[in-house]
Amino acid sequence: MPKKLFIRTYGCQMNVYDSARMADVLAPLGYAPAASPEEADMVIVNTCHIRERASEKTFSELGRLRDIKEEKDGKVILAVAGCVAQAEGAEIMARAPFVDIVLGPQTYHRLPEMVARAERGAAVAKVGWKAQPGLGILDTEFPIESKFDHLPAPDTVHGVTAFLAIQEGCDKFCTFCVVPYTRGAEFSRPADKILEEARRLVALGARELTLLGQNVNAYHGEGPDGSTWTLAKLSYALADIPGLERIRYTTSHPRDMGDDLIAAHGALPQLMPFLHLPVQSGSDRILQMMNRQHTGDDYRRIVDKLKAVRPDLALSSDFIVGFPGESDVDFAATMRLVRDITFPQAFSFKYSPRPGTPASLSDHQLPEELKDARLAELNDLLRAQNAAFNRESVGRVLPVLFERPGKHDGQMMGRSPYLQPVHVQGGLDLVGSIRMVRIDREHAYSLTGSFYDESAEASSLSSPQPRVTA
Ligand code: SAH
Ligand code: SF4
Ligand code: F3S
Repeated sequence: MPKKLFIRTYGCQMNVYDSARMADVLAPLGYAPAASPEEADMVIVNTCHIRERASEKTFSELGRLRDIKEEKDGKVILAVAGCVAQAEGAEIMARAPFVDIVLGPQTYHRLPEMVARAERGAAVAKVGWKAQPGLGILDTEFPIESKFDHLPAPDTVHGVTAFLAIQEGCDKFCTFCVVPYTRGAEFSRPADKILEEARRLVALGARELTLLGQNVNAYHGEGPDGSTWTLAKLSYALADIPGLERIRYTTSHPRDMGDDLIAAHGALPQLMPFLHLPVQSGSDRILQMMNRQHTGDDYRRIVDKLKAVRPDLALSSDFIVGFPGESDVDFAATMRLVRDITFPQAFSFKYSPRPGTPASLSDHQLPEELKDARLAELNDLLRAQNAAFNRESVGRVLPVLFERPGKHDGQMMGRSPYLQPVHVQGGLDLVGSIRMVRIDREHAYSLTGSFYDESAEASSLSSPQPRVTA
């Protein structure tokens, strides 16, 4: 009988990618996807350590899984993967002895071997599975070999968009952040491996690729010619792949926004005019304490340069409010930067002290109420900017990449260059195609539109000229 695997994923897009690759790695062992943990023979919890609340989810999820394991007399393999596993592997083993495998983000190519060992261990521990000290497997090494060299090529693409990891890890050490500790040092995959995977994903049906990395624009992989390639250089090569219509990348750092990458945004229509470029704060004092190594004005200059080559470019960002020592003046500087630049989309967080990070040791931690108040104020502004952007989209003509049927009969859902969901009346044959759509209405979380026929528009001079975005 085929075995079934359920993966619960928390955290960033890199974790979503990793979960898919763990499923790929286990497929040859006979594991097929399960719809719920209850019907699975193996459950992986892929965890996130970025903020306290994210981390806590691991242990509450493990509590639920223990009950399921109990109901099944222990006949399910439980694995904890990802960034909490990396940071607190030993603690998980101690606090949750019913967990069979704990593995970090850099060792999941070794999963088949760990699962084989766990399967043997589970057989031994059939009676009284709760007490199996020493049977648990912990692998949170940062191995010399790269997991990417040991992973099978992806063999399915769900839908028309796919993730592709090109870079991993971080050497920036922002003082609030755990990622350099959980993901390790910066590593860039060789360009030919990336191009090969991209061609494969396109052959499997992907029309849009999102290149992933914790510091994706710090990419400096080896090119086929032996030279070091930047993200710009890689983007040009990817843009040559027939059928690859859209390229996005995330998450980028302002310091690595090189001039060649900025120029690529002007030269490559495949590079979407929507960029996630986290600024975190608008106060130079706080940016310095965060060790971001750029100022608010540096960020403004980068945005100006990007908009000079791609005027329709829009930005998204992450913000942290309530960083230790953040004054009213500092917070006002963040609000000012948001007003100046405008972000159609953004993620904002209350500062969360993380174990092992320098900022968590500061004596100037702010009270929760103050962080709450600042977060609410910032969110009001960001919500208003998001609503304004969607409102201003009405009347525009945008290219929409169709993904799947919409909620209503006869409706298809696609995305604008700005990732806005757009609904249009149409059939399944639209999936995977890009069509020009005139946006007619905005709704709470989406837009509706109708196909825009350029020739018809040209002949009716009396109709108002819509703004067309290529
Ligand atoms: N590599 C990316 C971000 C990784 S984490 C970058 O450099 O921007 C995603 C976001 O989580 C960060 O941008 C930051 O806004 C937030 N974050 C990270 N650590 C945090 C902490 N300790 N408290 C609150 N938010 C945090
Ligand atoms: Fe964390 Fe900073 Fe690295 Fe981003 S750049 S992953 S915020 S340390
Ligand atoms: Fe979380 Fe690790 Fe991603 S801490 S945000 S899952 S890199």
